Amino acid sequence: MKKQIILLDTTLRDGEQSLKFNLNTKEKIEIALALEKMGIDIIEVGFPISSPIDYQTSKELSKIIKNSKLCGLARCKKKDIDMVYKSLKKTGNFRIHIFLATSPIHIITKLKTTLNKVIEKISFMIQYARKYTDDVEFSCEDSSRTPINDLCYVVQTAINAGATTINIPDTVGYTFPQEYFNIISNLKNKVNNIDKCIISVHTHNDLGMAVGNAITAINAGARQIEGTINGIGERAGNCALEEIIMALYTRKKSMDFYTNINIHNIYYTSKLVSKICNIPISTNKAIVGSNAFSHSSGIHQDGIIKNRNTYEILNPRNIGLDKTEFNLTSKSGRAAIKYHMDLMGYKKNTYDINLLYSNFIKLADKKGQIFNYDLESLAFNSEKDNNTEYFTLKYFNVESNSDISVATIKLKCGKLSKLESATGLGVVNAIYKTIIKITNYNIKLINYILTAKSQTEESIGQVNVKIKYKKKIFNGIGFSKDIIKASVISIINCLNNIWRSNQVQKNILQINKS
Ligand code: KIV
Ligand code: ZN
Repeated sequence: MKKQIILLDTTLRDGEQSLKFNLNTKEKIEIALALEKMGIDIIEVGFPISSPIDYQTSKELSKIIKNSKLCGLARCKKKDIDMVYKSLKKTGNFRIHIFLATSPIHIITKLKTTLNKVIEKISFMIQYARKYTDDVEFSCEDSSRTPINDLCYVVQTAINAGATTINIPDTVGYTFPQEYFNIISNLKNKVNNIDKCIISVHTHNDLGMAVGNAITAINAGARQIEGTINGIGERAGNCALEEIIMALYTRKKSMDFYTNINIHNIYYTSKLVSKICNIPISTNKAIVGSNAFSHSSGIHQDGIIKNRNTYEILNPRNIGLDKTEFNLTSKSGRAAIKYHMDLMGYKKNTYDINLLYSNFIKLADKKGQIFNYDLESLAFNSEKDNNTEYFTLKYFNVESNSDISVATIKLKCGKLSKLESATGLGVVNAIYKTIIKITNYNIKLINYILTAKSQTEESIGQVNVKIKYKKKIFNGIGFSKDIIKASVISIINCLNNIWRSNQVQKNILQINKS
């Protein structure tokens, strides 16, 4: 029979620890609700003694979260344990998570004590916590650098004192999979009361082993994995739970485990955590990175069209993402172009695939990434239209103070020149409103990213915008040493893409009439 792997999420504790700011109660509640909806078994909501906000938030969460068990962190101190109890007692069913370091380097240089004293304290504090709840987790901090006989002794004592979950953290992300496997196996073989507890693993990613170590540990007998969404956490981060979940799901035939997670909520939760914690997800991040389901090579794109299993082991829809994407670049082949034209509803007899492909390659060489609207323009616009920059910048001025910004912009629109001014809350808002006044395009700015092309004072600013127009998304890019000018140029670049797309519609209407 398949065995359940319990998931303890510590995004709000270990994850938050790594942020440059504290999450407020509202933000923590939003994340906790998403974790609950995703089916996380245990949510570590914070370290209540560490700050009044953590205490208050844990208290609030104990009134709101119903389906996940809540857990609070405590050092091996009565006042910490009391605070966890006070903050979570409303739930009736909560966990106290106590930790103390067990490795020589921590005991001697950080705690300045002895292993025997550490063990005495652990035993006393676990018994103390058991007065409040029958669910007590004990973590042997820096387990992976603790001599195995010491670790066995600590674990045996902690279980005798009443700990129901024993966590074996690789606190500094030092261990290798085989070593971690051996640690868990040794505990299973040498600690005589080990069956009275659940073994948990908590891995850090300093050597990039966090997920691999956790998976190896469950093969050795661990039944709880601790981690965070997107792997955020101290230093290089924690074990990324979405990777664990999808690894167990994808390889279920070769593994004897399951989780209680609703995998369709993974993408939403990952995005939410990234937004609230202000930590962008790297494009190539497993499972949730923007490239995780995007194919670039022409050979791969052709394979996917014929049978998606050729190059995809996960279905993006399973994690709540819309679709597989192709990166249309000069590496793409005819199959990918045709596939995109099909998706947009263009029958193959309405355009010349050979001509489209050769124009596509020329444009891709010049521009890099090609979007659907570029393909349409290449297929249905004249060369003249495609080479026309209908909107060009003639003049701009932006003035701004702490309350309001005013933009004045002159654009050449075809043969006419138009000058307008508008105020806005911030520079970009003022520019964007002025441009709407000039063009009458009903556009919505949905993404604005400013990056510096180098780290010197003279660096060039690059602005990428995404704009929604008539249910389609258009992209624009602008470069300038002046970031305000780069912003204006990026929006104008986008407007020209929209203009060309409007020309396509006019041309198709014309073709259909004739
Ligand atoms: O990494 C660690 O050891 C921890 C403990 C508090 C569990 O986060
Ligand atoms: Zn940790």
